[in-house]
Amino acid sequence: MSQPLLTLDFLDNAPAPAANQLPADVRVTEATNTGRQRRLYIESYGCQMNYSDSEIVSSILYDEGFDTTTELAEADLVLLNTCSIREKAEITVRQRLQQINAHKRKRPGLLVGVLGCMAERLKSKFLEEEQIVDLVVGPDAYRDLPRLIKEVDNGQRAVNVLLSREETYADITPVRLNSNGITAFISIMRGCDNMCSFCVVPFTRGRERSRDAHSIVQEAQDLFNKGFKEVTLLGQNVDSYKWQSEDGSEFVNFAGLLERVALVSPELRVRFSTSHPKDITDEVLYTMAKYDNVCNYIHLPAQSGDSRVLKLMNRTYDREWYLDRVAAIRRILGEDCGISTDMITGFCSETEEEHQQTLSLMELVKYDMAYMFYYSERPGTLAARKLQDDIALDVKKRRLTEVIDLQQKHSLIRSQQAVGKVHRVLVEGVSKRSEEHLSGRNDQNKVVIFPRQHFKKGDYVNVLVHECTSTTLLGNAVA
Ligand code: SAH
Ligand code: SF4
Ligand code: F3S
Repeated sequence: MSQPLLTLDFLDNAPAPAANQLPADVRVTEATNTGRQRRLYIESYGCQMNYSDSEIVSSILYDEGFDTTTELAEADLVLLNTCSIREKAEITVRQRLQQINAHKRKRPGLLVGVLGCMAERLKSKFLEEEQIVDLVVGPDAYRDLPRLIKEVDNGQRAVNVLLSREETYADITPVRLNSNGITAFISIMRGCDNMCSFCVVPFTRGRERSRDAHSIVQEAQDLFNKGFKEVTLLGQNVDSYKWQSEDGSEFVNFAGLLERVALVSPELRVRFSTSHPKDITDEVLYTMAKYDNVCNYIHLPAQSGDSRVLKLMNRTYDREWYLDRVAAIRRILGEDCGISTDMITGFCSETEEEHQQTLSLMELVKYDMAYMFYYSERPGTLAARKLQDDIALDVKKRRLTEVIDLQQKHSLIRSQQAVGKVHRVLVEGVSKRSEEHLSGRNDQNKVVIFPRQHFKKGDYVNVLVHECTSTTLLGNAVA
């Protein structure tokens, strides 16, 4: 399933999962079962970046004699690839560690490691706070895992949370886990140099760096050769991608990279995420327009519709700039280009009028989809240091509910606009609800369900849509 570069616990209002039950957005790596000596079990929390990193970790540890397993009970090594984006994300991981602790009492030899953003944020403090943890490894230190595991095997506890200015894992071929064999993610950059005042990512992921363009195109080509039909280029801010060859003869920006990946094959769809409104250029939009296989869909997080709040958030654009970018998208790519957003309600000092500005921005844009959150203060961020988290939780939640309700309406309107039209759908698999139906996505990233007939996974099928819900289009294949 293609997901934007986002955390998925967007329904912050949703009830917590019952004990021993994993939250819906947690991913457990698939089993490899190739007869290696030891077994690795990884759970990945947070965003697609973590899911992709877990594939790199699996690849590094495969070479060290570890197969992956989906069963905690079978594991010799348990790794949690963690997220720090909101407090709730960290609480979930702590609860999970308690459950794993109970399991470890039955299996004393079990090794437990914490990877990812929470490892980076808490560093060796993790070892003090959570006695069960043997290993703490930050996002730029995964190459060091074999050495660290040896230390743990020798009875020590091991930590490496060094951030790097260069590491992109460009040469490591990820072990594709949980893959449908049709759609894949390619990490094109790491880290983030923006300092949005609410955000912990620059602290947990380090400085922005772009991966070698040739290795990205090569990965896309390899995936296509293996039968994949869609790649999503991933980065916190893809529009600031920039790479220069060592001899200085080649310079590639994001528009250039998009073009190179689009040229791999007209049969390979290309998506990307996330676009920062301050950096998305007309050049990128024209490149999207030029290539049919670059999908007509942009995830363009606004965060707020109010210029004063945007300034406090340090997003470096205002409402007018944002609306100008949306106008450019509509002008260059047309009305039906899918646009989605992230919104935060109840940021420090946000007034009721400013909240209304967010709702009015949503009315103007009519997003196809949104990830919506209430503000959660993160230690160490600019906002935590300089601003007061002064909006009461019930107000934050009420504003969030208003944003979610409005988005529901807009998602439905956007779906209805798709009814009566023919959509080119890339089939990703059988529908979850019915064996007789296939499920795929159209260019605008909407899920389309239609009767199976003789079609199969990986086919491009023209589907006439006759019905919809806010999230799904229903139709029939046409010639
Ligand atoms: N790089 C992406 C966002 C990555 S984080 C971008 O710039 O758009 C994913 C989303 O989590 C953010 O867009 C934001 O909406 C939300 N988020 C980040 N920090 C948050 C916080 N402290 N409280 C609530 N939501 C937050
Ligand atoms: Fe966080 Fe802003 Fe960077 Fe996105 S662009 S990861 S919100 S600092
Ligand atoms: Fe992703 Fe969460 Fe880190 S959203 S970058 S895993 S803080």
